[in-house]
Amino acid sequence: MAQLWGGRFQGEISELAWKFNASIYFDKRLIDADAIGSKAHVTMLAKQGIISNEECEQIKNGLDEILRDVREGKLEITDKYEDVHSFLEANLIERIGNAGKKMHTGRSRNDQVALDMRLFVREEVKNTAEALYGMLDTLNTIMKDNIHTYMPGFTHLQKAQPVTLSHHLGAYFEMFYRDAQRLNDVFVRMNFCPLGAGALAGTTYPLDRDYTAELLQFYGPTNNSMDSVSDRDYLIEYLSALSLIMMHLSRFSEEVIIWNSNEYNFVTIDDAYSTGSSIMPQKKNPDIAELVRGKTGRVYGALNSLLVTMKGIPLAYDKDMQEDKEVSFDAIDTTKNCILLFTDMLKTMKFNKDQMEKSAIRGFTDATDAADYLVNAGVPFRDAHGIIGRIVLHCIDKGLGISDLTIDELKEFAPEFDNDIYDAISLKTCVEKRLTVGAPGPEAMKKAILRNDERLDVFWTHLNDI
Ligand code: ARG
Repeated sequence: MAQLWGGRFQGEISELAWKFNASIYFDKRLIDADAIGSKAHVTMLAKQGIISNEECEQIKNGLDEILRDVREGKLEITDKYEDVHSFLEANLIERIGNAGKKMHTGRSRNDQVALDMRLFVREEVKNTAEALYGMLDTLNTIMKDNIHTYMPGFTHLQKAQPVTLSHHLGAYFEMFYRDAQRLNDVFVRMNFCPLGAGALAGTTYPLDRDYTAELLQFYGPTNNSMDSVSDRDYLIEYLSALSLIMMHLSRFSEEVIIWNSNEYNFVTIDDAYSTGSSIMPQKKNPDIAELVRGKTGRVYGALNSLLVTMKGIPLAYDKDMQEDKEVSFDAIDTTKNCILLFTDMLKTMKFNKDQMEKSAIRGFTDATDAADYLVNAGVPFRDAHGIIGRIVLHCIDKGLGISDLTIDELKEFAPEFDNDIYDAISLKTCVEKRLTVGAPGPEAMKKAILRNDERLDVFWTHLNDI
């Protein structure tokens, strides 16, 4: 055991307690962030004359060498060390001696780990946003090709009114776009540097916190040293943004699973994203979509776990906070993989357009438009609703659709019907006349797609700027 503390202790820590306390098993993932933070810290210490320029260089070179050796497999990160911070410091001292012992001047592991997590999360927020960009781009591409691909729109999972595939996917574009905006909000609120907060009360060394913040590309230093070491709000916000992404992916997965069912047959999932059954040779299962739906629970779990961990912690740092890492790492990886995989599945998925159109015709999806026809002929809407309801009942009884009735049969229900009713309730009219902002009509959709293109451009430029 190579601990950073010891002077004050007479006895040895129990092996079980050491293992229980250690975070090296998972925080080794923060090694790059830790080294980046340490290099900025010593650069600032040297500028302030707290250590010499030579010592600063020795430390930076030493850290780079350690990173290289770890990368090349020459140096193993073992549980001899309590955490990634002790690992780097102990190895540095072993390599460069006294200068290494100065790296931790004016710093505590509390502000150090607060910085490491922020640096790590800040990168991951960008990675999640980049994955979302791919999803949004894919959606808009499919939307462009399917302005006239009719399909039933549902409420209560019952056929309601016809829409288009472009319109349906446009709904997901909005959801994922809001998710991207949320990630941006998280970034903007979290991008402040906690380094220099010390254990909780700052330090007496003349640190230049603005300078360290600038070196690490933060907007500036955090305001209050106690808050700096004990704030995990940004992580909770990020996990909450990830939970919403997963919620959207899960709803989408559910639809793909329904669409892929034998009964619907709206889509054919590419072989690359489906699996077979060990016993039933005919099976081709939508496992990827099912797993994405299933993994949503893990991400919600991470959010819930951190909320509960944080709720009883008195100021400032307490070891409970070490529990922020494993669940967050898992949620971040899970969400990113789900977005990437789902996007690939979507790109290769075949939409069975004929089947979708056929389904849009059946099931009285034209009933609202038939009622609107009567309204245009002067019948009050409530009466029109009743008349069409009676026609639907009659049709169900006879196994027919509204447009299968002759004009004389229709006139028996309402004299206002005329020959133009058939055109008024055709699938084409039902969809293409819906032209208000946000509706599925082609002119409205073309505008929506153009707006999506613009939003994607701004998003991409912004992603590369931050
Ligand atoms: N492994 C710790 C964590 O993840 C690092 C901070 C340790 N600080 C302390 N006072 N023991 O939170």
